[in-house]
Amino acid sequence: MRREVAIETLMHMLRVSFISISFVNENKNEINVIRFRLFLGAVLHDIGKFKLNKKVLNAKRKLTKEEMIYVREHVLLGEELLKCLKKISQIIKYHHENFDGSGYYGLKDNAIPIESQLIRLADVYDSLTHKRPYKDALSISVALEVMKKEEKNFNPIYLSLFIKHVKSKYVKSYFNNLKKGK
Ligand SMILES: [Fe+2]
Repeated sequence: MRREVAIETLMHMLRVSFISISFVNENKNEINVIRFRLFLGAVLHDIGKFKLNKKVLNAKRKLTKEEMIYVREHVLLGEELLKCLKKISQIIKYHHENFDGSGYYGLKDNAIPIESQLIRLADVYDSLTHKRPYKDALSISVALEVMKKEEKNFNPIYLSLFIKHVKSKYVKSYFNNLKKGK
């Protein structure tokens, strides 16, 4: 993995863990999850990418179908790396499941570990709002629109709470910073 891509992957995992924990902290009554387990799963969710071929991960273009299938391996590599922590390895393995069953392994609804459902939201949000070698970053509001259009991928209750959370937390602080001229 090229150094910048490795750093970006690390930063992404840190941001996803921060977003997931902050989201759960604000919705303690609605979301029942062990926060330490969620944090560990989130902070390590893409760890398997460090074992993938750097040429594919560093590509500054859209990946081919074969390459996309290859990159999917990162969930299995992550599961293998964390196999001594069964629950965490399962959270990592299933962080690309879609709520309607159209994800990597076809797990559906609440068969998907809750932590993986929460990481999926933070992961997609963070990926959309950050620049990658092959795409530009979207604004917060456009990213939320994209997620709404792809609502089938997420637990509907968590998605609506997540949208509220992002709007109250990040959009407000964005406007406050604008006012302060930051
Ligand atoms: Fe991933």
